[in-house]
Amino acid sequence: MKNIVVKMIAKEVDLDVCDIENLLEVPPRLEMGDFAFPCFGLAKSLKKSPVIIASGLAKVKLPKGISEVKAEGAYVNFFVDRGIFAKGVLGKKRVDVEKKGKICIDMSSPNIAKPFGIGHLRSTIIGNSIGKICEANGFEVVKINYLGDWGTQFGKIIFGFRKWGSEAKLKKDAIGHLYELYVRANATDEFDEECRAEFKKLEDGDKENLKLWKRFKDLSLKEFDKIYDLLGISFDVVSGESLYNDKMGAVVAELEAKGLLIEDEGAKIVDLDSEGLGKVLIQKSDGTSLYATRDLAMAIDRKKEYNFDRAVYEVGSEQKLHFRQVFGVLDKMGYEWSKDLVHAAHGLYLDKDGKKFSTRRGKSVFMKDVLNEVVEKAKTNLLKREMLKGKELDGRARKIALAAIFYGDLKNNREHNMVFDVDRFLSFEGDTGPYLLYSYARASSILRKVDSKASVKIGEINDTEFGLIKKIDSFEDVVGKAYLGLAPNLVANYCFELASLFNEFYHACPVLGNEKEGFRLVLVGAFRDVMGKSLNLLGIEKLEEM
Ligand code: ARG
Repeated sequence: MKNIVVKMIAKEVDLDVCDIENLLEVPPRLEMGDFAFPCFGLAKSLKKSPVIIASGLAKVKLPKGISEVKAEGAYVNFFVDRGIFAKGVLGKKRVDVEKKGKICIDMSSPNIAKPFGIGHLRSTIIGNSIGKICEANGFEVVKINYLGDWGTQFGKIIFGFRKWGSEAKLKKDAIGHLYELYVRANATDEFDEECRAEFKKLEDGDKENLKLWKRFKDLSLKEFDKIYDLLGISFDVVSGESLYNDKMGAVVAELEAKGLLIEDEGAKIVDLDSEGLGKVLIQKSDGTSLYATRDLAMAIDRKKEYNFDRAVYEVGSEQKLHFRQVFGVLDKMGYEWSKDLVHAAHGLYLDKDGKKFSTRRGKSVFMKDVLNEVVEKAKTNLLKREMLKGKELDGRARKIALAAIFYGDLKNNREHNMVFDVDRFLSFEGDTGPYLLYSYARASSILRKVDSKASVKIGEINDTEFGLIKKIDSFEDVVGKAYLGLAPNLVANYCFELASLFNEFYHACPVLGNEKEGFRLVLVGAFRDVMGKSLNLLGIEKLEEM
């Protein structure tokens, strides 16, 4: 519809189609029309007052699809023909978009032998949604879990395990025990020398250390997989820092050859001072590598392997400087594709009292427990409404809990800090995941009640119906914008607006048995279709009944 209006204006005034599109507004109230075009900008070139220009434009012959054009001050208001518009929107076949290229998404990426943190949960949820949004925009997506499975901390864990470790404890709660050992070894600087030596041995390929490390890694992964199973999120590739251990030498040599490495008290650095990014430590004086070195090797390797058009790193904003440095070094190395690397940062979860939310407080509260607690709460809420049992209860509670957490997170601009408030997230009313599921289930339930489709005649379309149709129509636009900003919140907010309009419609416009039943059923079907697609983009699993 917008296109018709744009074309109509383009015929009359000397403006670019793009400019007209940008100028065109959606008026705040329906009685002001569906689109409004401000004429202020034309006054100079036409040497007429904007009011006169507007009234001139309003007299133009109406194209098909527009039912009325009115001048209102300096604006021209356009009213679309609701019947034609509804037919277009409700009859639209949503075809797959053409393939545009490949995007790698670095996401989740927890650290081995350490608890799965809140930041990793955010990265998993947001990265997953960004992946789906990229796919919806025509990209092939490779979701990569880049485990923190290498680094000096493994010197500490290996040292700690040899000194204080217990097989029994390792069996019972591997991550809990390893983390405890890490904390203990890290508590004083007394063991620093020995810990560093253990990591050096590991990097140099010591068999015994490698064996221990591999065991810790396998045990950790087993724990992480339980979380991924619960979340229903998987990866195309599970990678990790350790994979780049043998590629580090090459990076250091390349930096050297390109004249970028500087000796600094025995260590090697790249100087990004002139870019305002400080000095990047590449190799420590004992020859061991760093997080940044591994990210450099990994980026180069990933480009070779996937030849991506874009690589997105969904990682907390506290690593902003790190990624700017890594991208900066790659740029200095002459890798022109470094401009295709994006750090999609996220903020923190906060407690209700505004402090940083942490699963580590209370020591042994881990992510799995946090998630299971939400599922239990969802169960209690469900049982207040309906008598359910066994698998049905478990399944529904899990989906409601995940919808609550995913939506509670994704509705926010990802860079902002947000309050992790499970009780609010779980509410069936208001701006919550369960509310969205509920609206979807409501539409499903209406559609389940009829099997024969009455012939559809689109008659008069009232404001409530029209509002819903317009919202449905804007789906593709929202998906496009969400990709541009790597912003799942645009889809999440859209879901809420769509659900609200649907519920308004549900209360104001009876469907079954009504004379407009045929048309309204089609509308309910279109809502359900678009709502389902939107929820899918957020990684939220739908419920047909609630
Ligand atoms: N393991 C890291 C952490 O927990 C996150 C890794 C992010 N990805 C990357 N390519 N650096 O802080």
